[in-house]
Amino acid sequence: MLQHLAPKDFEPETITLDGRTLRYRSCRGVRYCERPQDPIQVLNIFVPEAYFEGGSISGYTAETAPVFCPSTVGGYMPGPAAEPGPDHFFPTNAVFEALAHGYVIAGIGVRGRTTGSTSTEFFMGGSVEAREAAATGRLCDRAPAFIVDLKAGIRYLRTYAQDVPGDLGRIVTNGTSAGGAHSALAGTSGDSSDYTDELERIGAVMDASDAIFAASCYCPIHNLDHADMAYEWQFKGIADCHYTHFRKRDGKIVKISEDSVLTAEQQELSEELACAFPVYVRSLGLTDKDGTSLTLAEDGTGSFLDWIERQLIASAQRELETGANTQNLPQLMTEGSAPEALSCLSIEDGTVKGIDWPAFVRTITRMKPCPAFDALDLHSPENEEFGTEDIIARHFTAFSQEHTAVPAELAPDRTIRMMNPLSYVSSPGCCTHWRIRHGSYDRDTSLAIPAILALSLANAGKDVDFRYPWGLPHSGDYDLPELFSWIDGLCLNGR
Ligand code: DHB
Repeated sequence: MLQHLAPKDFEPETITLDGRTLRYRSCRGVRYCERPQDPIQVLNIFVPEAYFEGGSISGYTAETAPVFCPSTVGGYMPGPAAEPGPDHFFPTNAVFEALAHGYVIAGIGVRGRTTGSTSTEFFMGGSVEAREAAATGRLCDRAPAFIVDLKAGIRYLRTYAQDVPGDLGRIVTNGTSAGGAHSALAGTSGDSSDYTDELERIGAVMDASDAIFAASCYCPIHNLDHADMAYEWQFKGIADCHYTHFRKRDGKIVKISEDSVLTAEQQELSEELACAFPVYVRSLGLTDKDGTSLTLAEDGTGSFLDWIERQLIASAQRELETGANTQNLPQLMTEGSAPEALSCLSIEDGTVKGIDWPAFVRTITRMKPCPAFDALDLHSPENEEFGTEDIIARHFTAFSQEHTAVPAELAPDRTIRMMNPLSYVSSPGCCTHWRIRHGSYDRDTSLAIPAILALSLANAGKDVDFRYPWGLPHSGDYDLPELFSWIDGLCLNGR
């Protein structure tokens, strides 16, 4: 039996961080499905104290406050139900700031690629060793488990938490990287019947909607089935890789850099993959806002690349004028990325006139080997994400499966489709409002990948706010005041 939540089930709490104290009420560890496979499948709700006292914050009341749904997923790892606290890079995290701003928080815990294994890996890293993974004897469903669990949590809220403050018609998801993909999937695949079997398997509420109001996605590592070709389209001809891992040591996040050079075989694969990307882009039939077709010629140049260049120029211009990232985000901004200092930008009289794309790509450097995502040796985080209860890792592109010397399974088309937000852009449950941010120096996936998401959504008539913030690497939650203004613009206007 799932529990009905009422305001009386909430406990008063306070938290002080960075000299700021928040008063709120919490309800933690709420089971949102009848047949969970793992203890992580619970949710936390946090409500600003003011809403229990008839008050209002930022113009919201207990009835009108949006429900902010932050994903803690990173590296396709399990994502525990979010909590207010410090962030890896900032004194406070998005939950703390969203509560302070007057949102109700629903942190929904979801399974990930190492759920059921004894791995202590954090974020990125090689694949878990089979013996480690099997050690607990309870490896569980992976792709598309993370989105199934998020949907189940949302359905639970709509059925069992109606009396709790917060407007469940205004659910906004937020996430970074694999969490950005999580948010994007929640945004496009609302109420899709594709997920029915998986929802039934965990005993989710079946007669409630999981469609959301808006999605915020920071550097979403998504469209995995086309990410390898997009990566080589951008980085072909560059053999030096500068890989970045994050590990937890003594409770702190440490950055580990590993350099390598593509082998001759990998360079051949790179050429092949790069050639496939223009064919894919042309198949999408994308247009810009004036209806001009965005395509790529066989050599990888064309109006789609011109569009990306225009976004980068606008972003460099913004940074040149405001210096905002350099000043406000010194802990994130890539060293040497200030536009003034870059020879790949042509700047005249304070105006960024152009960008030399090959020089820009060399400047930001290649991070991943080839193929970047569907590794031939099955050792990428994504291979593991496509594993099953019984199989540690699988391929998710025919290309890698065909090119590997190690025979391995390909995940079924259905699973691959259910992991790709683009599969659902034209479906009726795809939400209207989108905010997508992807640092211009992010090399975890090609800059083409968020561009395709933003353009596909805009072409489907959605409201899309998309930028490549200048100089930022793979990261998220760095502009929460702007994110919250965007949400407020959608929720408060017209009330
Ligand atoms: C993440 C980063 C990656 O480079 C990747 O391949 C998958 C996930 C992440 O940070 O979540």
